[in-house]
Amino acid sequence: MTTSISIENIAKNYGNVWALNGVSTTIEKGEVRGLLGANGSGKSTLMKILLGLVRPDNGLVTIEGINPQVNPIGVRQMVGYVPETPRLYEFLSGIEYLDFVADLHGLDNESKKERINEYMAAFDLKEQGNDLISGYSMGMRQKIAISAALINRPHVIILDEALNGLDPRTAKIVKDTIIKLASDGVTILFSTHVLEIAEAICQKITILDKGRILAEGSMSELRAQASQANLENIFLSLTGSSDIRAIVEGITH
Ligand SMILES: Nc1ncnc2c1ncn2[C@@H]1O[C@H](COP(=O)(O)OP(=O)(O)O)[C@@H](O)[C@H]1O
Ligand SMILES: [Mg+2]
Repeated sequence: MTTSISIENIAKNYGNVWALNGVSTTIEKGEVRGLLGANGSGKSTLMKILLGLVRPDNGLVTIEGINPQVNPIGVRQMVGYVPETPRLYEFLSGIEYLDFVADLHGLDNESKKERINEYMAAFDLKEQGNDLISGYSMGMRQKIAISAALINRPHVIILDEALNGLDPRTAKIVKDTIIKLASDGVTILFSTHVLEIAEAICQKITILDKGRILAEGSMSELRAQASQANLENIFLSLTGSSDIRAIVEGITH
């Protein structure tokens, strides 16, 4: 197995809060890893450290051998990132926005056209591709943000709470896309605060709690450890509330 993401003893302090406090894990190439934890547990901070957007106070991360602190551009050329609240250009159409992002990556015209058409079709955006983003629903914006993160064919994709606010049908498309990419060898890091979502999408789950790793393993391994390690309360607190039920159904059936 080949290591794709290495995280060693990462700590990040914000005033009197340790957003991360000694986090270490290794993610293999082609793995779909879930980062599961309540709001404030440190998920987004860890992702931003991997992208070189936040500097850790201690520890070392590498993505495909590159240290984002040393070579942030090298990492960003190789990693697709969907932030928690993606910001898009409201007065471009979906197609224009993807065209713009493809240009930033230096894609030639032919691959650009081909990939934009591919994602428009895969994400069911064809009809509204020429409409302005300002008129898009949250689900459509999310699909554009994900397409933009994929257009460079990255080796690693980091998705921060990417199913939030999606309709069940879109959530299913996103899930299928993630699983297909991983089967092609792309490494996926996917954060969520909902246990059922992590379980439906991820092979292996890292549970973060107040900046520390509480447990790690496949969902069945975690369930087996649950009674010894007192994870039951954690599982309960991470179980999706009723507003998330439709998404969970969308991705599990
Ligand atoms: N830029 C920041 N300034 C101050 N505190 C921050 C900042 N970013 C995150 N934090 C704090 O760090 C902790 C972890 O936050 P975050 O990584 O966003 O967690 P999660 O994504 O799991 O909700 C929280 O207590 C949060 O308030
Ligand atoms: Mg977050």
